[in-house]
Amino acid sequence: MILTGKRILLGVCGGIAAYKAPNVLRLLQKKGAVLRVVLTLGAEAFITPLTFEALCGEKVFTQSDFLAPPPGLIPHTELGRFAEAILVVPATASFLASLAQGDAQSLLVATILASQARVLICPAMNHLMWAHPAVQENVEKIKGFGYEVLSPGEGELACGEAGPGRLPPEEVIVSYLERLVAPKDFEGKKVVITAGPTREFIDLVRFLSNRSSGKMGVALAQAAWCRGAEVTLIHGPLSFTPPPFLKRVPVTSAEEMKEAVLTHFKDADLLLMAAAVADYRPEKTLSCKLKKDQPTLSLCLVRTPDILLAVREVKGPGQLVVGFAAEEGERLSVEAERKLREKGLDLIVANDITREDTGFEADTNEVLILSRSGRQTRIPLASKEEVAWRILDAIKECGGGR
Ligand SMILES: Cc1cc2nc3c(=O)[nH]c(=O)nc-3n(C[C@H](O)[C@H](O)[C@H](O)COP(=O)(O)O)c2cc1C
Repeated sequence: MILTGKRILLGVCGGIAAYKAPNVLRLLQKKGAVLRVVLTLGAEAFITPLTFEALCGEKVFTQSDFLAPPPGLIPHTELGRFAEAILVVPATASFLASLAQGDAQSLLVATILASQARVLICPAMNHLMWAHPAVQENVEKIKGFGYEVLSPGEGELACGEAGPGRLPPEEVIVSYLERLVAPKDFEGKKVVITAGPTREFIDLVRFLSNRSSGKMGVALAQAAWCRGAEVTLIHGPLSFTPPPFLKRVPVTSAEEMKEAVLTHFKDADLLLMAAAVADYRPEKTLSCKLKKDQPTLSLCLVRTPDILLAVREVKGPGQLVVGFAAEEGERLSVEAERKLREKGLDLIVANDITREDTGFEADTNEVLILSRSGRQTRIPLASKEEVAWRILDAIKECGGGR
């Protein structure tokens, strides 16, 4: 994955959210990043170097290493050269002021000044501090240096007050870091992605649906966002909350999904139809709760609209459409090939729904990609995150990226 083997310097400042920094470090480790940590003097009042040393098995640099380093080591230039990316979590108002001024009194700021690494800064503080013009001016100045500053989230703060100032969730911070270091090969592309199941209501409370979780579609949306695309995620009811940075259009039924897809496809470059859209819906939906007063019950089902066929009708010359097929074992490639032709797709991604570790609900997937030109790509079993990345590679080879 994109962070595997990447050399990341994690800078931790003296804010109350410093206790969340080890979680960020753990997540980065899981993604395969190679880590070094610098704590500011303020950070040491909140959390000890030992916590980070125990987690990453490396010496953690503190302010006392700066002007009294081990012989032969110049920490700020050494660390500055080491880092491919620098992540500051949390960044305090005082750190922002030092960086905006280019004040190299702290090891962390000196390291940033002495580095060509990309820098992501995640401020967290009391909402009045964050809103203060001095802090905002420093943030603007820092952005002007080419560093990325992730705006804090809103909500209850450690001081008991509420407002913007919270550190964003650890997973969100790591996603922004991934985006910072990812190739921007989908920059300027408008990508529409569908995900999850649809629900076709029988009565007020009951519906027909399927086992789709939406994980594959959301992984694709996240990968495309990471690689610079402008993403719209159209999704049915998901089994989890997608990341907040994705632009979302929630829908419920197949009919609603069709309308949303046709609206957003108009000016899109690429459509990825990863949703598991219901093929049938009840002919009628009762506006009350169906009573259990009959020994048997028959439902009359009618076909839902075929979204890919509707898209085919309006597809322009530069637009690429990728379908997904959930098929059983041996029929996988035959059925995928048939769907590719029938629906006029550019690519089809087929996965086997008979296996536990692929397809619906699983965290992993293994897919076969077929292209209109006859190219076949098999992506072996991997996390849906990784498979999503590889699907985008295949789309790029087909002319979908930049
Ligand atoms: C209990 C407590 C919590 C604090 N939380 C924050 C905070 O969340 N954000 C912030 O910018 N400063 C916070 N401060 C102020 C910083 O700790 C102070 O500005 C310190 O000098 C920052 O050091 P550093 O930027 O070198 O890490 C807090 C101070 C205390 C005593």
